[in-house]
Amino acid sequence: MRTPIIAGNWKMHKTMPEAVEVCRRLEEMVEDSAVDVVVCAPFTALSALSALGLTKLKLGAQNMHFADEGAFTGEIAPGMLIDVGVQYVIVGHSERREIFGETDELVNKKVRAAITHGLTPILCVGETLDQRKEGKTETLVQGQIRKAFAGVAPEAASEVVVAYEPIWAIGTGETATAEQAEEVIATIRATLSELYGTEIAEAIRIQYGGSVKPANISELMAKPNIDGALVGGASLKPEDFSAIVKF
Ligand code: 13P
Repeated sequence: MRTPIIAGNWKMHKTMPEAVEVCRRLEEMVEDSAVDVVVCAPFTALSALSALGLTKLKLGAQNMHFADEGAFTGEIAPGMLIDVGVQYVIVGHSERREIFGETDELVNKKVRAAITHGLTPILCVGETLDQRKEGKTETLVQGQIRKAFAGVAPEAASEVVVAYEPIWAIGTGETATAEQAEEVIATIRATLSELYGTEIAEAIRIQYGGSVKPANISELMAKPNIDGALVGGASLKPEDFSAIVKF
């Protein structure tokens, strides 16, 4: 039985005091929820959020470098995230791939580095609208999964969280239908099964992301392969995010 996991990706939003205020409120609002709840805040807020000693809300980062340390101006190492109480890290978000040129090879290095350091990667995959229209969604997503998991041992693979985020549904208000999301997520699970066998594939949690709101979460969560959501815009408001957590 997979425990659902709802994660908020705040992207480049919220100052440290704003983040503290929101997380204090959220912790109270979602305290009695049975699902895993993660807030992926900007780097600058992580240490203050960790100092709050929250128990229900787990902390995530939105990116990291794969190296332990070195001359990488502006980057953050996995150990630095561990140091401030972070447990999850988003890897390969489409905004990182598209705007900052992250390749599948780089994403794979980050996935492996996260695992080595005891961080849980939230690995994002997903297609553009053109790729969907050309019927390339399945092949593309399968390729992203295979490349991201290259060199990842079976025991470690079962701990990875995958997020299927169709790029055309991110920040557009246009959610994939629950059927569209389930179809691709089932394909992802089938690919994981080819790589690691059914037992491990069945243990891996796969989220949907892209315009998730209180109004569409129940329908998504009702699908057998959808284990949670990676929420952008709606995670910035405690009322909306807590309603999603309580789907
Ligand atoms: P929205 O929920 O704002 O569409 O963003 C989705 C996303 O990119 C989460 O990582």
